[in-house]
Amino acid sequence: MDTFDRHVRAWHITSGAGIDGLTLRTHEEPPLGPGEVRVAVHAVSLSFRELLVARGQYVLPVKPDVIAISDGAGEVVAAGPNAERFRPGDRVVATLFPDWLDGPLTPERLPQLGGTLDGMLADSVVLPEQALVPAPSHMSYAEAATLPCAALTAWNALTGDGRGVYSGQTVVMLGSGGVSSWAVQLAKACDARVFVTTGSSGKAARLRELGADEVIDRHGDWPSAVRALTGGRGADRVLDTAGTVPDSLRCLALDGHIALIGAVSGDWPPLDPRALFATAATVRAVAVGSRAQFEVMNAVLEVQGLRPPIARIFPFDQAREAYRYYESENPFGKVVIAVRPDAHATPH
Ligand SMILES: NC(=O)c1ccc[n+]([C@@H]2O[C@H](COP(=O)([O-])OP(=O)(O)OC[C@H]3O[C@@H](n4cnc5c(N)ncnc54)[C@H](OP(=O)(O)O)[C@@H]3O)[C@@H](O)[C@H]2O)c1
Repeated sequence: MDTFDRHVRAWHITSGAGIDGLTLRTHEEPPLGPGEVRVAVHAVSLSFRELLVARGQYVLPVKPDVIAISDGAGEVVAAGPNAERFRPGDRVVATLFPDWLDGPLTPERLPQLGGTLDGMLADSVVLPEQALVPAPSHMSYAEAATLPCAALTAWNALTGDGRGVYSGQTVVMLGSGGVSSWAVQLAKACDARVFVTTGSSGKAARLRELGADEVIDRHGDWPSAVRALTGGRGADRVLDTAGTVPDSLRCLALDGHIALIGAVSGDWPPLDPRALFATAATVRAVAVGSRAQFEVMNAVLEVQGLRPPIARIFPFDQAREAYRYYESENPFGKVVIAVRPDAHATPH
């Protein structure tokens, strides 16, 4: 029986208010409507988007005083009228775009958690059940919480263009962040040859453990290094999380593919259309992915037994410390906030 006598603790943020603007508040628990479920959140994970929201630089709209963070996992504790996909006790992950179930991204499918909709940095949330997928059975809540943005973006960048990566192709990831480190593992699952650039020499061994075949210094001439390592041919696909499309084009094979994902460098250098013609390149902007893509990816994660690297887990009350650590330390692996103490326990 769902009751109204409990309260919810949630961290709120306003776009541009900075990490110090994160504010912990207590609310009355909202009622459950038709098709909705209540989820006891166990873990959330930080992605670059959360820093962009704090800095007022996120590309999509953010409502004032939103409950922060798009990515979280938890347990269904109550189901509203007509909710049929999930039952209390189910372990679930929220999708970043709750209305994007399948097909292409459309304006109606753009509302996003931790943006125009309240996010997951709360001890309990109410969501339409359509906005959830089952958590992979081998993952802790902390691991599952890394999937909605980082992993799904990597999966979409590798497979969502209709052609996809296939065995023996060369794929380049830029940096060792959340998207890239998931992409390394997922591209290996597709039997690709995987190159990763990094600015941190200490991360090379960790990237090789994840499956990288070659780790390249990004402070050097990495496009030439990619060409040399492919006998001059170039890479079939580059996952550009850095905002360096001209460089990505320099290392691309003829008829290659660039998944345009982000700009951690903070810059978008001008793009010469002649460089596109010279490589007959396809450049596709990626926006996370749909629930249908999420479900296919989770099947791959289960079969392969893949897990994300996790750098550090902070308790719920230290959300600001988690953001600051993520922003300043450039860690290898995801930064997670444990909303409940068992966030990283092995599932039964
Ligand atoms: N379009 C979408 O749907 C979508 C979804 C998710 C993320 N994104 C975007 O993708 C980017 C990565 O996100 P994320 O969550 O994976 O970030 P992240 O986990 O914070 O990763 C950042 C990593 O990028 C590398 N890096 C830092 N500065 C760099 C520079 N100047 N040039 C090249 N690499 C640099 C670093 O790796 P090393 O220390 O190894 O060098 C760093 O660890 C962000 O721009 C984000 O907004 C877009």
